[in-house]
Amino acid sequence: MKPKVFIGRPVSKEVEAYIAKHCEYRIWDKKEPIPPEVLLEEAKKAEGLLVQKSAITEDFLAQASHLKVISNTAVGYDSFDLEAMEKYGVIGTHTPFVLDETVADLVFALMLSAARRIPELNNYVKQGDWNGETQAEELFGTDVHHTTLGIVGMGRIGEKIARRAVFGFNMKVMYNATTPKPQLEETYGMVYSDLDSLLEQSDFVVLIVPLTASTRKLIGAEQFKRMKSNAILINAARGAVVDEQALIEALQTGEIRGAALDVFEKEPTSPDNPLLKMDQVVVVPHIGSATAKTREAMVMKAAENLVAGVTGGVPENVVKELQGLISGQ
Ligand code: GLV
Ligand code: GLV
Repeated sequence: MKPKVFIGRPVSKEVEAYIAKHCEYRIWDKKEPIPPEVLLEEAKKAEGLLVQKSAITEDFLAQASHLKVISNTAVGYDSFDLEAMEKYGVIGTHTPFVLDETVADLVFALMLSAARRIPELNNYVKQGDWNGETQAEELFGTDVHHTTLGIVGMGRIGEKIARRAVFGFNMKVMYNATTPKPQLEETYGMVYSDLDSLLEQSDFVVLIVPLTASTRKLIGAEQFKRMKSNAILINAARGAVVDEQALIEALQTGEIRGAALDVFEKEPTSPDNPLLKMDQVVVVPHIGSATAKTREAMVMKAAENLVAGVTGGVPENVVKELQGLISGQ
């Protein structure tokens, strides 16, 4: 008998066919995210789940006792209660590697958009305000090339950002990470820095760390005070890495120049979020990895991890905190 799995999001025909070959499956095929109570009911009957950032809590796991693997279609897995998964012996997988370059592209798109004020200027032209007069200084932006970039987090994506910065834009790159990466320093000529000095010296600060207990609200009022008044913050990590209220205040008081955000404390963010009213803030709806090609690769990767996990294989991308569950087998 094929193992039973539940697919908690729409997938392509190819991915569905692949899963069908190995598993008996049910699927949430609607565009809107699956309601947690529906996911739980389905999970109770399944050995494997494929989800996109659904919250996996202790309570959830206690009720879904057949589960062996939960495959997350994302690189970040702050949606997993790792301790509870370990306790219940449920393997968690994610989708690293396939999205690295795509997310690094988005970081540059955000950085360039904020620096050169692309959304504002786009509106200016489309609204018919371009009347042929000498262009006023209010439209001018700020350079990206030959400035200093501070990267907070130097994993796979951080490295791709550094490569673009150094070889494409002649930027000086500083980085902060849990452990220094001498090999990358050599390749990219970048320097390791403590967080405070990085914030003090960077023209652009990119956040690309996983959300964990130690990165929650990593950037708050005190950190904004350290940043240059012309600095632009780019958050492509998780909203909760930044104290959003402190960010609002830092922008209102001119402590920093601008921000470009892919992520928010609460998603979807409220239309009343003051950040959305600010010209110096560029926003996109948590879309860092969202090109058609990369999203399809992520979902296929997630499906492969799912199938391996329910058919007695070893999924390729078990999250590092749960690898003990595999080696103990
Ligand atoms: C997106 O946010 C991801 O973690 O893949
Ligand atoms: C996150 O995955 C990073 O690249 O730091």
